[in-house]
Amino acid sequence: MLLEVGGLHISYGDIEAVCGFDFHIGEGELVSVIGVNGAGKSSILQAVMGILPCRKGSIVYKGKDITSLPSHERARMGIRLVPERSRIFPRLTVYENLMVGLYGLKGRLNVGERVDWLYGLFPVLAERREQPGRTLSGGEQQQLAIARALISGPDLLLVDEVSMGLMPKLADEVFRLLRQLNTEQGLTMLLVEQNAVASLRISTRAYVLETGTCALHGDAAELMGNSHVLDVYLGREAK
Ligand SMILES: Nc1ncnc2c1ncn2[C@@H]1O[C@H](COP(=O)(O)OP(=O)(O)OP(=O)(O)O)[C@@H](O)[C@H]1O
Ligand SMILES: [Mg+2]
Repeated sequence: MLLEVGGLHISYGDIEAVCGFDFHIGEGELVSVIGVNGAGKSSILQAVMGILPCRKGSIVYKGKDITSLPSHERARMGIRLVPERSRIFPRLTVYENLMVGLYGLKGRLNVGERVDWLYGLFPVLAERREQPGRTLSGGEQQQLAIARALISGPDLLLVDEVSMGLMPKLADEVFRLLRQLNTEQGLTMLLVEQNAVASLRISTRAYVLETGTCALHGDAAELMGNSHVLDVYLGREAK
C-alpha cells in the first residue's frame, strides 16, 4: 500500500471539516474523492501534503508514519500537490515556476530532460517559458501547476479540482493526460473533483465524502451506476 489514512479528523477552530475518514491508495492506482462544496476534499489533500495538521488519525506513506512530518519532508519522499486554483507564482517566469517544483531535489535529477519532457506534454508552456506566470490564462496557469508538480517525478500526485475554470475541451485534455500519466508511467494519483463524471471515468476506485466522512466507496465504474451517486453527483449527464 502506498498511502493508508486512518481515522482522519481535521478541524478549523470549532468547525469539524473531516471526522473519521479512512482511505488507502495502492501503488499505481488512480483514486478519486468526490463530494459537494465544503465536503472536506481540499482539506484532506492538504492534510496528506502536511499543509494542514490532522487533529486525530494517522497517515502512513510507503510504510512510514508521516502524520507529524512537515510538508517539505513529505515532498522529499515523493508527494506533490497540484493545489486548487493552481497557485503559481505570478512574478516568476514559467521556467522559474517549474524550478520551484525542484526545490531541494535538484541534485538527483536531470533537469534539462525533465523540462523538455514537460514542454512536450504542455507545448503552451514551452512557447511562454520566459513570460511571468501572471500573464498566462487561467487554463495555462493550471497546466503550469500540473507541470510544476510533475517535474520532480513524484510517486504520489495529489490533484485538487484540476478542471476548475477550464473550458470543457481543455478539461477533457487534462483528464486524458492524467489518465495517460497513470497508465503509461504508473503514476499514483489522488484526485479531488466536483466534476464527478470526468473523475470517475478515469479512476480505478473512488470514495464519496459526505458530512466529513466516507459515505460510499468502491470501483469507480460501480459507483457510476449507484443510484445515490447518480442522483446526487452525476445528474442527468451520466444517465
Ligand atoms: N481556513 C478555513 N477556516 C475555516 N473553515 C474552513 C477553512 N477552510 C475550509 N473550511 C471549512 O471546512 C469545510 C471543508 O472545506 P474544504 O475546502 O476542504 O471543502 P471542499 O470539499 O474542498 O469544497 P470545494 O468543493 O468548495 O472546494 C468547509 O465547511 C469549509 O467552510
Ligand atoms: Mg476544495
